[in-house]
Amino acid sequence: MTQRMVFAFVAAAVFLAVAGTASAQGTFEGRKKCYNCHKSQGESWDKTLHGKAMESLKPNTRKEAKLKAKLDPKKDYTADKECVGCHVDGFGQEGGYVIEEPEKFVTNVGCESCHGAGSAYRKIHRKAGEAFEKSQKTMDREKLVEAGQEFEFQEKCNACHLNYEGSGWKGVKKPYTPFTPKVDKKYAFDFEKSVRSDKALHEHFKLAGTFTGPPTPKFHEEFQKNAKPPVKADNGGDD
Ligand code: HEC
Ligand code: HEC
Ligand code: HEC
Ligand code: HEC
Repeated sequence: MTQRMVFAFVAAAVFLAVAGTASAQGTFEGRKKCYNCHKSQGESWDKTLHGKAMESLKPNTRKEAKLKAKLDPKKDYTADKECVGCHVDGFGQEGGYVIEEPEKFVTNVGCESCHGAGSAYRKIHRKAGEAFEKSQKTMDREKLVEAGQEFEFQEKCNACHLNYEGSGWKGVKKPYTPFTPKVDKKYAFDFEKSVRSDKALHEHFKLAGTFTGPPTPKFHEEFQKNAKPPVKADNGGDD
């Protein structure tokens, strides 16, 4: 093989590997689909700080916090690539938020920022939900992991909350968050405490038990024990 052929061959293999992963794991689609079937979590999420994260980038909002972090409170940061990445879903990834074409359903820190890009696993939710309703047949959560659903959460949170120099998180890269413990101690991120914050996380609703087995985060049982009944049959979405 010539060097060029080798390059073309390697490039094709890399492309196939990446494309293969993308199709098995899914891409970002926005929260509209999730809402159809999970209205309770959706309406609760609307009221959280994550559900309004883009507001904070608008001029004349959060003035004190911005001044403290040496930002300009009068400036509009909603189209600033140094900022939007952590205030939206899937910035720079397939189906995710694009500054030039802002899509409503990937604006703010939505479902897919924590649960994973949803195009593949949400189809499994539909099928499994139908089978469960018909004959109480359950499905292993492992199938959802293969389709890109996240069950650990912590690394997802870290990518936004610990992305600054000296945080100790191994993935740090620019642009960093301006809100670090140096600016104010309250910006230190404590996962165990934060994941239980009702200002930032949606409320929890009782699951019927369609999915079973590992993995589940260690707080899963605690959340389900205190969960409310969903407002209505949450499984009735179209797809
Ligand atoms: C067509 C309906 C439908 C869509 C669309 C859908 N889901 Fe689901 N989802 C379900 C059903 C049904 C269950 C099982 C619920 C139960 O057991 O009570 C489920 C379960 C879940 C669970 C719990 C899994 C577990 O640990 O047992 C999460 C988290 C979840 N969905 C998130 C999402 C997100 C995020 C989206 C959008 C990307 C989404 N779902 C889209 C129907 C759907
Ligand atoms: C895509 C980036 C992103 C991800 C992922 C993310 N967050 Fe956030 N989080 C934010 C932003 C931005 C805010 C500030 C929202 C605002 O006030 O405008 C925030 C706010 C919060 C707050 C409120 C802090 C306060 O002022 O009290 C908590 C708590 C929190 N997040 C916890 C979490 C947890 C736990 C996870 C993971 C399960 C997580 N976040 C995932 C970006 C993210
Ligand atoms: C690496 C991710 C990341 C980037 C980049 C980022 N932010 Fe944020 N932002 C966050 C997180 C996480 C929080 C929540 C911090 C907390 O409350 O603990 C937040 C919170 C905020 C808040 C609310 C602070 C408060 O206390 O009320 C404002 C305002 C804000 N960001 C503006 C900006 C602006 C402007 C930029 C660009 C100059 C920016 N952010 C870039 C992650 C980021
Ligand atoms: C900041 C991170 C975060 C965001 C954003 C988020 N979730 Fe969750 N979600 C969680 C965590 C953590 C759990 C608890 C998982 C467990 O108990 O196994 C959870 C649990 C769930 C469950 C299981 C039942 C329950 O209520 O605990 C469903 C369904 C769900 N989320 C749907 C959604 C939908 C739909 C959205 C968007 C409208 C969304 N989530 C946004 C973190 C998030």
